[in-house]
Amino acid sequence: MKQKVCIITGGNSGIGKAAAIQIAQQRHKVIIACRSQQRGAAALADIRQQANNEDVELMIVDMSLQSSIRAFAQAFLARYEVLDVLIQNAAAFDIRQKQIAFTEEGVEKIWATNHVGPVLLTDLLLDALKRSEQGRIITISSKGLVTYPFLKVDLDDPEFRERKFSVQKAYYQSKQAQVMYTYWLAKMLGETAVTANAIRVTNVQIDVDERYPHLPTLLRKMYSLKSRFSITPEEMAKTYTYLALSPDVAQTTGKYFDDPEHIVDSSAYTHDWESIEKVMQLTRRTMKQPVTA
Ligand SMILES: NC(=O)c1ccc[n+]([C@@H]2O[C@H](COP(=O)([O-])OP(=O)(O)OC[C@H]3O[C@@H](n4cnc5c(N)ncnc54)[C@H](OP(=O)(O)O)[C@@H]3O)[C@@H](O)[C@H]2O)c1
Repeated sequence: MKQKVCIITGGNSGIGKAAAIQIAQQRHKVIIACRSQQRGAAALADIRQQANNEDVELMIVDMSLQSSIRAFAQAFLARYEVLDVLIQNAAAFDIRQKQIAFTEEGVEKIWATNHVGPVLLTDLLLDALKRSEQGRIITISSKGLVTYPFLKVDLDDPEFRERKFSVQKAYYQSKQAQVMYTYWLAKMLGETAVTANAIRVTNVQIDVDERYPHLPTLLRKMYSLKSRFSITPEEMAKTYTYLALSPDVAQTTGKYFDDPEHIVDSSAYTHDWESIEKVMQLTRRTMKQPVTA
């Protein structure tokens, strides 16, 4: 079996870390792309040990910052010519967030991290993915979107500059945009060997104390109740690993997966081509410089 080179953004915790372990266990090269050197290094040691594979690396990227994504892509491309799998797993969602926050580049943080960042990173690494025998791009969305069947990306105000900010609305809008982006990518990649598929992540256990320290008691109780109906990160990561490695999906593109071998549908709006194009035009306008890679 040929060794694949795989990048997992946010590979230092939760599902991303579990996927890193599973993929490294199969002797593939994994690069976890994390924003914190400290958390990344701790996860790196753990992943290497649990996978019994030293061929795992840490590279630093802050997915909310386009300058950081460009620096990351440049550093990766200086060392690797080919990328086989790109898993766009990192995402911002903090249930405690009440106020809108902007990055130092002036973009609303959730939109920047969960949607604009992944689009830019893919753009910058696309040539390396095309050089792979069969490159794969995997984006991550959320099953929570089924509770918002009519949700649209607000084309006039995606960054909540005029309307009232809500962390849930911002998060689900970004995840809706990722699904639409995946359909767009699959079409753009057309006859190339590169595939693009999205994953509908269900309720997955999180380490509440680590993720949300000082959470009010009521919310803590809510999370502990929710976790009883949640699957483990390891279980969810099996879908990541399947889409990253399985020969069964070498030619599957533009699909939305719930679990291995189970394709689900997204809302009618996400399939509307005019809307997809508008979302992508909007995304391009948020990028600070044109992509030259
Ligand atoms: N857990 C669920 O129930 C659930 C449900 C639906 C969808 N999802 C999706 O599943 C994916 C994985 O979530 P998870 O449950 O594994 O959560 P998690 O443990 O909180 O993992 C999120 C990862 O993203 C990283 N991240 C956040 N902002 C970043 C930034 N600006 N730059 C780089 N990395 C950043 C985090 O890094 P730090 O450690 O530095 O914060 C962390 O490694 C996400 O896309 C999430 O939206 C999860």
